[in-house]
Amino acid sequence: MQKQPSKAQNTAPSKIQAKKTAPKKILIFASGNGSNFEAIVKHFQQKAFKAKVNIKLLTDNKNAYAIQRAKKLNIPYFYVPFENLYDFLKPRAKEYNLYVLAGYMRILPEKILKLGTVSGIQGQKKQNKFINIHPSLLPEFKGKNAIRQAFDAGAEKTGVTIHFVEKKVDSGKIIVQKSVAIGNKTLAELEKSIHEIEHKIYPEIIENLLFKKNILLFGGGAREHALAQKLSESPFLDTLYMANPNDGFKYLGKTIEFTPSGDTRADFYNLAKKARKLNINLLVVGPENPLFEGIADIFQNEGIRTIGADKKWANLEGSKSFAKNFMLKNSIKTADYRVLEGEAAVSKHSTQIKEALEYFKAEYQTPPVIKADGAALGKGVYLPERFKEAEFEIKKFLEGKFGEASKKTILEERLFGKEISLLSFWDGKTLLSFPPAQDYKRLLDGNIGKNTGGMGSIAPAKISAKEQKQLEEYQNNLKKALLKENADFKGIIYSGLILTKKGVHVLEYNMRFGDPETQVLLELLDTDLLYIFLKMSDKKLDKIDLKFNKKKAYCMVLASEGYPDSPKKGAQIKNLEAAEKYNCKIYFAGVSKINKHQKSAQEQDFSLPAKHKAADYAGDTFITNGGRVLNIVKSAFSGKIALDKIYKTALEINFDGKIYRKDIGKTYKS
Ligand code: GAR
Repeated sequence: MQKQPSKAQNTAPSKIQAKKTAPKKILIFASGNGSNFEAIVKHFQQKAFKAKVNIKLLTDNKNAYAIQRAKKLNIPYFYVPFENLYDFLKPRAKEYNLYVLAGYMRILPEKILKLGTVSGIQGQKKQNKFINIHPSLLPEFKGKNAIRQAFDAGAEKTGVTIHFVEKKVDSGKIIVQKSVAIGNKTLAELEKSIHEIEHKIYPEIIENLLFKKNILLFGGGAREHALAQKLSESPFLDTLYMANPNDGFKYLGKTIEFTPSGDTRADFYNLAKKARKLNINLLVVGPENPLFEGIADIFQNEGIRTIGADKKWANLEGSKSFAKNFMLKNSIKTADYRVLEGEAAVSKHSTQIKEALEYFKAEYQTPPVIKADGAALGKGVYLPERFKEAEFEIKKFLEGKFGEASKKTILEERLFGKEISLLSFWDGKTLLSFPPAQDYKRLLDGNIGKNTGGMGSIAPAKISAKEQKQLEEYQNNLKKALLKENADFKGIIYSGLILTKKGVHVLEYNMRFGDPETQVLLELLDTDLLYIFLKMSDKKLDKIDLKFNKKKAYCMVLASEGYPDSPKKGAQIKNLEAAEKYNCKIYFAGVSKINKHQKSAQEQDFSLPAKHKAADYAGDTFITNGGRVLNIVKSAFSGKIALDKIYKTALEINFDGKIYRKDIGKTYKS
């Protein structure tokens, strides 16, 4: 008997595609050879697409070999001299979903491009239907003979770019790029590699543009605001659904109210069912708690792919002892440690605490770091200066200072060095990392005061070439360990690292995007985030390049007086317009809106670069409703300018009890 695929094998997308809809129509423009045209046709002639995609060819050249291909492939074609193109397209403009330029050697005038612009109707984004493929890494080597241009210039690498077509030649928003190393290749070999990539990537991107995806983003903090913003910029997005966004970013998509009933797993199960009904293709999980509860496993069982670790691997964050075991087994450097657990350790006659402290005294002469074994919102860490203080604090942890999370407590050798956060995408096979970031964990300037969820962040963190090499080694070790342990999930791995004299050590793992590191890292990411997620869900992360720009990004958190213990709430936030004045972004966290002016997606102009416009808040009144209230984010090639604008914005945005650190941008060693 044939083996039935299990539900967990991601059957959802095919089911969704099976839904009966009118066929998509594309018009491919080619002037010559037409090999891309043929690759696209063959892709959509596969059974899965046959009735769903209707292709025609348009050429401006009577002798184009593309015409021979069209005849062979049974594809209708139009020969349209360029001077007749506008008249030909005008009556047909609405007929096609996409205009695909594939070796069409003409510059399209604005009036033709306008025929391909669909303005935002019924809550849809404004769209440009013209796309082009170009054989270089734009903006390098524009124009004709781009492969040869790169070859003759002695470039180390070149590649392929797919982009929307705009007025200027080979410009327009980049959809995707894939690089090719030139190395010792002859020109002919280079051309062959480039064409091979083109033939794979162009059909795939067209498919993603024709069959856009519905995403559900879970979580309602500033990190999720940043993720929602980035996802909403993707041309591959149909509808962004959000489970419990805060009032500050609801306008970016459709809200699904998620009301916990006390039975979290049942709630997730119901949410997954709802997601199925809404044809949601992918769940993206922001915070850690749903992962600990197994949201990824539940959705996966319902056939919905998830970006976020399964229950087992969420333990790398959820249980410090699980993480320590993983590291020890796999020779990943981490601090020496002892585990204390339960009543026994704190009972009157117990000597466990004393003995453990004596061990640290003898070995390291410094008191150990005290960490709750379970997750405690990033706050369950204490750094005692003296042994007596350590003893007192360990007792408090074991007695439940952080509830169940600290009934098991880890004592760790104190390490000294620069702390960095390394966030990586993992698909069960490939690990790709962001540049390192740095966060500001402590409440007060000078890195003192209480531990918080994070008061700010910068990226990239400043590291030396030697440290960069060490980081690469660390990533290789981590990848090897994950493969060896068969960590078959798709998600984010956040390595909290310390760069010591004895090399890179892991302080902790988080299994989700860091908050507020994400807010700065997304500023550096030039690759489409949804495309990355889709590749991850196909376990094909190895097939893409992550592209980062060379900017410096900063994030400052404005918090409420009393944070992190008992923040004041209910103060009106004034002068949010300052963000626009200084060209900074705002990501909201602990806010609520008191008037319910709801902006529709239709009012947003998605064709503009992501920037917060005063109009986004016009008519809105926000009040504080949490510890971390909002983030001010800015990136620029000059770090000094970016920081200056952030500080000016922070000064002008106002609410009662506003607190923030005045040393964001400074590097500290612990
Ligand atoms: C492709 O390499 C495409 O990238 C390039 O023309 C070739 C067409 O080949 N396009 C440009 O240079 C656009 N500026 P094909 O006709 O065999 O598909």
